[in-house]
Amino acid sequence: MALFIRPEVTEDRDAIRRVNRDAFCGEAEANLVEALRDLGYVEVSLVAERDGLVVGHLLFSAIGIITGTTTLNALLLAPMGVLPEYQNSGIGSQLVEQGLIRCRDLGHQIVLVLGHPEFYPRFGFSPELARPIESRFGGDDAWMGLELRPGALQGIQGRVEFSPPFLALS
Ligand SMILES: CC(C)(COP(=O)(O)OP(=O)(O)OC[C@H]1O[C@@H](n2cnc3c(N)ncnc32)[C@H](O)[C@@H]1OP(=O)(O)O)[C@@H](O)C(=O)NCCC(=O)NCCS
Repeated sequence: MALFIRPEVTEDRDAIRRVNRDAFCGEAEANLVEALRDLGYVEVSLVAERDGLVVGHLLFSAIGIITGTTTLNALLLAPMGVLPEYQNSGIGSQLVEQGLIRCRDLGHQIVLVLGHPEFYPRFGFSPELARPIESRFGGDDAWMGLELRPGALQGIQGRVEFSPPFLALS
C-alpha cells in the first residue's frame, strides 16, 4: 500500500500526538513536539501517511552549536516515532531519508541526533562527527552528527545550545 511522506499540516496535530504517545508509550515526546511547535523551533516536521492514517512522524528543530568564536545554526532530529503496528516496515527509514533531503534543500548544513546507534549510521550519521560537540544529554555512540554540506562539522568543537523545550526535559 502506498506510503506518503509529507509536511505536517494543522489537521495532523492530534494524529501526531497519538503517534508519539503510542511509539514512546508516554506523553513526554508528544508534549515536546507541541512545545517546539508552539515556541517556533520547528524547521521540518514530516508525517508518514498510509491509507489516510498518519502512522509516523519526524521532527527537526533548531539548535545552536556554541564554539569559541561563534554560534552555528544546526538541527536536532527528535523525536521520531512510528505506530508500533507499523514498525520495521521501512517507514522510519523513509522519514529520515526524505527529511534529510528537505533539510538540505532548505539550506541546513548540520544535523545532530541522540538515537539508536544501530539505526542512524545507515543514513550517514556518525558518532565521530558529534564527539567534539558536547551535549548535556551525553549519549556516547548514540550521540551522532551528519554533514548536509560536506565538511560542515570539520574542526568544529563546542557545545549544544538546546531550545527551552529540550532543556525542560533535563
Ligand atoms: C525507531 C523507529 C522510529 C524506527 O521506525 P521503523 O519504521 O520501525 O524503522 P524501519 O522499519 O525503517 O527500520 C527498522 C530498523 O530500526 C531498528 N530499530 C527500531 N527500534 C530500535 C531500537 N529500539 N534500537 C535499535 N534499533 C531499532 C530496527 O532494528 C531495524 O533495523 P534493521 O533494518 O537493521 O532490521 C520506530 O521503531 C519507533 O517508533 N520506535 C519507538 C520510538 C523510538 O525509539 N524513536 C526513535 C528515537 S531515536
